[in-house]
Amino acid sequence: MASSFGAAQVLVASNRGPVSYEVADDGSLRARRGGGGLVSGLSAIGPEAGALWVCSALSDGDREAVRRGVGEDGVRMLDIPADVHADAYNGIANSVLWFVHHMLYQTPLEPVFDAEFRRQWASYEDYNRAFAEALAQEAARGAAVLVQDYHLTLVPGMLRELRPDLRIGHFSHTPWAPPEYFAMLPDDIARQVLRGMLGADRLGFLTHRWADAFTACCERFAGGPGDTEIGVHGLGADADFLRARSHEADVEERITALREEIGEGRRAIVRVDRTELSKNIVRGLLAYRQLLEDRPEWRERVVHVAFAYPSRQDLAVYRDYTAEVQRVAEEINERYGTPGWRPVVLHVKDDFARSLAAYRLADVALVNPIRDGMNLVAKEVPVVSDGGCALVLSREAGAHEELGEDAITVNPYDVADTARALHEALTMGPGDRTDRTKRLAAAATALPPARWFLDQLDALRGGPASH
Ligand code: G6P
Repeated sequence: MASSFGAAQVLVASNRGPVSYEVADDGSLRARRGGGGLVSGLSAIGPEAGALWVCSALSDGDREAVRRGVGEDGVRMLDIPADVHADAYNGIANSVLWFVHHMLYQTPLEPVFDAEFRRQWASYEDYNRAFAEALAQEAARGAAVLVQDYHLTLVPGMLRELRPDLRIGHFSHTPWAPPEYFAMLPDDIARQVLRGMLGADRLGFLTHRWADAFTACCERFAGGPGDTEIGVHGLGADADFLRARSHEADVEERITALREEIGEGRRAIVRVDRTELSKNIVRGLLAYRQLLEDRPEWRERVVHVAFAYPSRQDLAVYRDYTAEVQRVAEEINERYGTPGWRPVVLHVKDDFARSLAAYRLADVALVNPIRDGMNLVAKEVPVVSDGGCALVLSREAGAHEELGEDAITVNPYDVADTARALHEALTMGPGDRTDRTKRLAAAATALPPARWFLDQLDALRGGPASH
């Protein structure tokens, strides 16, 4: 395949692809473009770039598209059986590997690695093998393959066996667990994950902290990382896209609507998240309640605008968490609200234009995850902010490595301290706020998605041709 990346072909592999399909009422298929850093990274390179993206069918619409032979140029969707995919994605990737890397278990009762786990693990192997085989089939001699994330940890090793001629990279968009926590996995599974990853020529991480944790796990369980190269690429915000998109008409409309919800003359503390267990939305609400307690002067003068968009709703623990977010928000509104003031404005329906509107008008952005690979919201807000925005940022977010100096840092578990940080952010002088926002925006855009992708590709091709 012709490619604008230079000599050899480029393939990308990820669970979620750049496009998804829905069956419309008339039976026709409707395509929707996905979001996220990787999608915008590749789109920024241009549709003629000639990369092939291998992804999994995720919905009935996707499976139907594969069966009808409907597809987009440059995308190959794998029709992995729904039950195998559910075991691999919900059972292993989201309920085990995500929990391990974000350290989310309530350890008195979980995890339990029993026969059911072993059954699901076999599906995870099958699902990884389906990717490895498709990549082996599609890749031209010497092609570069960039595998993404914890869903596909076994692919590099499997692909290496099938196609020793390929340059194989893997990138983790999440944190990596420290060895003491990673050690919860059964020993053979821990080794299998690490050896799967080490089948790559090169592994990429978002921060040094996650890369070091991975190396430490390899030293403990796999005799070290061997000749696999390890690199750090801190994905940045796409400034050109965000600045243009955030001034389109639909965003302006939503600014007007949001201003009405907030009320004249009030400050806005904004958060925007997918409702993942690691985002710490509930403690954010508790910190806001603490602020209203400790500093009653803020009552009627501030609104917490919280967007908590649905994620992984097949999992009961995610549904429960969303319900808890809604419960605590309502409790605060009942307790403190007045006829003219709704202290928390919570929206749970995904609306990108409204997110950008909130970014533009935020006085304070609250980004307090208990652990996060990077967190792009922390990087996007300063880029599109209209009047400058103070950033309250968890020290456990990957973005803290790059933005920490101009943010107000919090320990995400310390609700009292987060309340204090919110007060500090609300009272930051306008000059300081503007200066910090400028520096935050510069740091946040240091490595735009397209560059982030090309750097990895260059490094993968330039590295030693080992194995
Ligand atoms: C987060 C992580 C990514 C991951 C994605 C999967 O955004 O940072 O590493 O790929 O979740 O989300 P999904 O909705 O596909 O489960």
